[in-house]
Amino acid sequence: MDSILVKGNGPLNGAIPIAGAKNACLTLMPATLLTDAPLTLTNAPRLSDIRTMTQLLQSLGTEVASLQGGQVLALSSHGLTSHTADYDIVRKMRASILVLGPMLARDGHAIVSLPGGCAIGARPVDLHLRALEAMGAQLDLRDGYIHARAKAGRLQGAIVEFPFVSVGATENALMAATLARGTTVLKNAAREPEIVDLAQCLRRMGAQIAGEGTGTITVEGVTGLGGATHPVVTDRIELGTYMLAPAICGGEVELLGGRIDLVAAFCEKLDQAGIAVSETPRGLKVARRNGRVRAVDVVTEPFPGFPTDLQAQMMALLCTADGTSVLEERIFENRFMHAPELARMGARIEVRGGTATVTGVERLKGARVMATDLRASVSLILAALAAEGETVVSRVYHLDRGYERVEEKLGACGALIERIPG
Ligand code: UD1
Repeated sequence: MDSILVKGNGPLNGAIPIAGAKNACLTLMPATLLTDAPLTLTNAPRLSDIRTMTQLLQSLGTEVASLQGGQVLALSSHGLTSHTADYDIVRKMRASILVLGPMLARDGHAIVSLPGGCAIGARPVDLHLRALEAMGAQLDLRDGYIHARAKAGRLQGAIVEFPFVSVGATENALMAATLARGTTVLKNAAREPEIVDLAQCLRRMGAQIAGEGTGTITVEGVTGLGGATHPVVTDRIELGTYMLAPAICGGEVELLGGRIDLVAAFCEKLDQAGIAVSETPRGLKVARRNGRVRAVDVVTEPFPGFPTDLQAQMMALLCTADGTSVLEERIFENRFMHAPELARMGARIEVRGGTATVTGVERLKGARVMATDLRASVSLILAALAAEGETVVSRVYHLDRGYERVEEKLGACGALIERIPG
């Protein structure tokens, strides 16, 4: 297993290109299952999670061509050979559940293994299933698999009210609704930019959708969808992660392709902490204002609130802030596994249930630490960039799921970071 060696090394200066969003791409790819026609995604990120989704789609009979070094994905599902998403692939990645809605909507049946994914608390798929049931799916859970069938062969439009916001359940229901008979209204829908991106792509394919980006999405079902070419939206989590690098280390970094509207709540917290963010013709520029970073309190919430996927990285910043910060995690239980690892580097963090209290220290110290999930692993790298001495982060396969060429991107700004093959 590879590890990453980081030597704490002062300010960072330079430019970092931000890739297309992993989480958008993982929902855009299954949209191919809705049509016989080709779907081409541009600005795709080159990540192991994308390769896992590629394998899953290929196992169903989708043709996937990875072009331009993986930045363009040409997908065609004109002849599906299977409607079963197998446990061996699905267990690697929770987003695999997103093939369920599209397959069911197009062909009236699908069998999908219950997913695995990041170990961040119990992460059921009941909301996905309830939404599809409301649309006329008959579901049977057997041997770890969801056996789904549409009554009379086609899903039926419905009013679906989610009891709380779920990104994945909104995506599954939205895709399914495009081919359902009649009108579907999704209430308390997720408003994340990845949902907006999916709706825009589906519309390019011929779907009739209104209200994406608000809490109510209305879909008029159509009888068939066509092909499209669609650019994947910028990855707001990669963007926020790299915005924290100059915030933690000093210096000035430009994030190419960055957009304030994708990370507004996060920018507000950076501002309170004493970090300046400004727009440039190419993206966003980030630099620390004079003096030490100030403590701030953070509560994670669905979009447009502060994203849970930036909580671990924000904690890395607050470990050396002046004062005490309180971080409240409201989306996932058990999402503070980075805290004991940061503590190995000298951080003062107390975790109680869903709340972490961080008392800033002057400087962290390098240590051997272990990545426990995707965002936790990058928070350890951020902390290491400003720590005294060397840090070795092991189990970086988590990192490779969601960040492309981390060493190159940070190295180009002056960070001393290298991958040690293991
Ligand atoms: C997506 C993102 C993930 C991000 C999360 C929240 C992808 C591939 N992943 O995950 O990076 O952290 O949104 O922004 O896009 N829940 C249920 N039942 C369900 C579905 C969800 O109880 O059927 C719960 C989850 O356990 C969690 C909360 O709802 O506590 C929100 O989860 P959800 O928004 O569905 O996250 P994902 O779509 O899995």
